Amino acid sequence: MVDFRFDIRPLFPQPIIKVTSNLLPHTFRGDRRQCLDATSKMTEIIDRLGQLSATSQGLSKPVTTGQRLRMSENQTVYLLADSEAGHNGSVVGLLKVGTKDLYLFDETGQTRKVQQAPSILDFYVHESRQRHGLGKRLFQTMLIEEQWTPVKCSVDRPSDKLLAFLGKHYGLTRSIPQANNFVLFEGFFDDAPSAN
Ligand code: ACO
Repeated sequence: MVDFRFDIRPLFPQPIIKVTSNLLPHTFRGDRRQCLDATSKMTEIIDRLGQLSATSQGLSKPVTTGQRLRMSENQTVYLLADSEAGHNGSVVGLLKVGTKDLYLFDETGQTRKVQQAPSILDFYVHESRQRHGLGKRLFQTMLIEEQWTPVKCSVDRPSDKLLAFLGKHYGLTRSIPQANNFVLFEGFFDDAPSAN
């Protein structure tokens, strides 16, 4: 359970919210004082989930923090809550995505510069809730909101669990070898304009 000293439910009028650099739920409406309160709570939530994600992946420092999200221009964090859990509700998952300009190898080994490539940057469902379909729910919501298709996503340093997840739910198993930490799957370059 990822619970907080405050009631998270007012921040989650729906189970999945989106947060960008203003550190406010996309659903948020309020005055300045409420805004300050909400950003400080969102920062705490994102920092906690980001730290749990790092720990579960064995990373020395988190990929996702409130501070990093504040500084980013094109990243979005999706958060999934369970408002029925505990006294104050609980936040059970995080998915951070963004776009990146990347140099990538295509299937034939040619280098291509891909601008604004959709990227999966961090993904975590609490240990007590994994393998119950919540990751799929978060991922599907993200795909609809971003208008992305799975095969067009690059994935930053995927864990074995995430590779299994992408294979199971989206049939993504055949990766195209890269020189960087990103993993792409066959089909990524289909219909892309030819590179120079
Ligand atoms: N071992 C192997 N595969 C797993 C595991 C596991 N412990 N947990 C989930 N999966 C994969 C499997 O394919 C599984 O299907 P199966 O149970 O039939 O084998 C499938 O995911 C389950 O799908 P969901 O229930 O929708 O996924 P879940 O809610 O578990 O979320 C996630 C998937 C986010 C990868 C979660 O397992 C998790 O948080 N893992 C730890 C953190 C992590 O590795 N995050 C990815 C880091 S890399 C990056 O973010 C770019």
